[in-house]
Amino acid sequence: MSGTVEEWRVVRRGKGAPRKLKSHQQIPSASACLQEQLDVEKLVRRIRDTVSELRVEELWQQWKNQLLLATSTSVSESSDSSGAEGQQDKDTEGTVRQHLECVCFGLGSFSSCASARYQLAMLLLLLDAGQIPVKDCSLYDPAFSPAERDVLRGLGLSVLTENEEGKRLATKPTLFYLMHCGKALYNNLLWKNWNPRHLSLVTIIGNCFSGIRERTIERELRRDYSYISKAVDLCEERLLPCPSHLIDVFSDTALITFPLDRLNKLPQSSWTDSPEPQYQHCSDLEIILKQKSISGSPETTTDAFLHLTSM
Ligand SMILES: C[S@@+](CC[C@H](N)C(=O)[O-])C[C@H]1O[C@@H](n2cnc3c(N)ncnc32)[C@H](O)[C@@H]1O
Repeated sequence: MSGTVEEWRVVRRGKGAPRKLKSHQQIPSASACLQEQLDVEKLVRRIRDTVSELRVEELWQQWKNQLLLATSTSVSESSDSSGAEGQQDKDTEGTVRQHLECVCFGLGSFSSCASARYQLAMLLLLLDAGQIPVKDCSLYDPAFSPAERDVLRGLGLSVLTENEEGKRLATKPTLFYLMHCGKALYNNLLWKNWNPRHLSLVTIIGNCFSGIRERTIERELRRDYSYISKAVDLCEERLLPCPSHLIDVFSDTALITFPLDRLNKLPQSSWTDSPEPQYQHCSDLEIILKQKSISGSPETTTDAFLHLTSM
């Protein structure tokens, strides 16, 4: 793959021709810049150390095996229906593997939060294992600081600039990495892909849907998060193991796929009647929405408000 974990180097973006500054401005500006660069380099080192730490955990082998299993079994199913939707590779054992893209929402602030840093390290290992080029992995979290965005770009990853509210259409086989995210992000993602053609291209590593169902009042799940509510019985969930010392980082996580034979069993009406989620009853909406412009069209990318509770 291009840009393996060992090859990471942080490359700072050029900031254009230096502006002429008054002499009293030069020293603080240079030292701030140097400090920022040191922080970025320090952060990359910490991420690299975390990758090395995770790589020797038994958990990592188990996650890797589950990913490879899931993405090689669903390939025949998705290609049965959609033809040349995604490229495939045969490995030495004759197993057909998908070429995946990856999208990560809600990673969190990995410079200040150890859980998010471990999750980022796991993401990098998964990309390596799934032979997903780092540039084919896009990330967005409104919580990312400018330095964190620099670190991600330095690692070769693609940082999204627009808040899609999780509404990302899968046009190729795609691994969605949504660790411990709010229900609205999962629900929005499911809504956007709510038909057999697109849903069969979706693989999610994130909160186990059956766990969400257990923790949520049934009536509210059906009313507010109807796509999660319907997806629970439709998807295949492989619970991913989590050792007790990493419980805050990887608990309640599953690898979720949508086998085509299950999707095709649903009547056509289940796909056609699929309104966009509105969440008007949710007082504790666990997502940062993009700001609507005054005319009502969702033009701006500024994040509007934050209610992150009970996740
Ligand atoms: C409960 S935190 C989880 C953070 C981290 N993954 C962890 O387990 O500690 C949920 C994350 O979702 C992010 N988030 C909220 N709205 C989002 C959006 N529209 N798109 C992407 N991420 C979003 C928040 O900024 C926050 O970092």
